[in-house]
Amino acid sequence: MNCEETIRARRSVRRYAPDRVDDNVLRCIVQAGLWAPSGLNNQPWKFKIITDARQKEGLAQFTKYASVIREAPAALCVFLDTTQVYSRDKDIMAIGACIQNMLLQATALGLGTCWLGEILNKKNEVGKFLNIGPDYELMAVVAVGVSRGKPELSSRKDLDQCLLP
Ligand SMILES: Cc1cc2nc3c(=O)[nH]c(=O)nc-3n(C[C@H](O)[C@H](O)[C@H](O)COP(=O)(O)O)c2cc1C
Repeated sequence: MNCEETIRARRSVRRYAPDRVDDNVLRCIVQAGLWAPSGLNNQPWKFKIITDARQKEGLAQFTKYASVIREAPAALCVFLDTTQVYSRDKDIMAIGACIQNMLLQATALGLGTCWLGEILNKKNEVGKFLNIGPDYELMAVVAVGVSRGKPELSSRKDLDQCLLP
């Protein structure tokens, strides 16, 4: 797939087959995140890769999208490293770019993903559960796995609706 095809092929996947995803593949997805741009190249991100079923079950209790985390064989937690922050707005934008890189890399590898943001309502509880120090602020959990069935259809506004005169 070329770049445009990969961008268009990415869909939020909420149902997963039970197939395990190899650790090296998960590392490759995170590695793609590291190549995102960031202000002053400060790279304000940290990650926790979760594949253990009990840990996933624990994580699932903090979101109404629990079934996505339960079914996906892996959950990639993305944190803002607050010790690296130089501009909170810009650092959060960089984390968004990092996450999108991860989603596109997973798509290119034939895997499904879902960017989970609702879990941020319980970000402090998640941090405590994962025993992550206070320096790291949860930004998203990315579910990763082999898609079960066809992902839901999605649509976008027309370009002309998005262009300001
Ligand atoms: C910041 C952000 C937070 C999101 N949070 C959730 C979430 O908590 N649960 C979920 O199922 N999808 C979540 N999504 C996925 C969106 O619902 C999805 O991207 C959107 O509906 C478009 O569908 P598509 O990704 O298939 O193109 C989130 C996406 C973003 C960018």
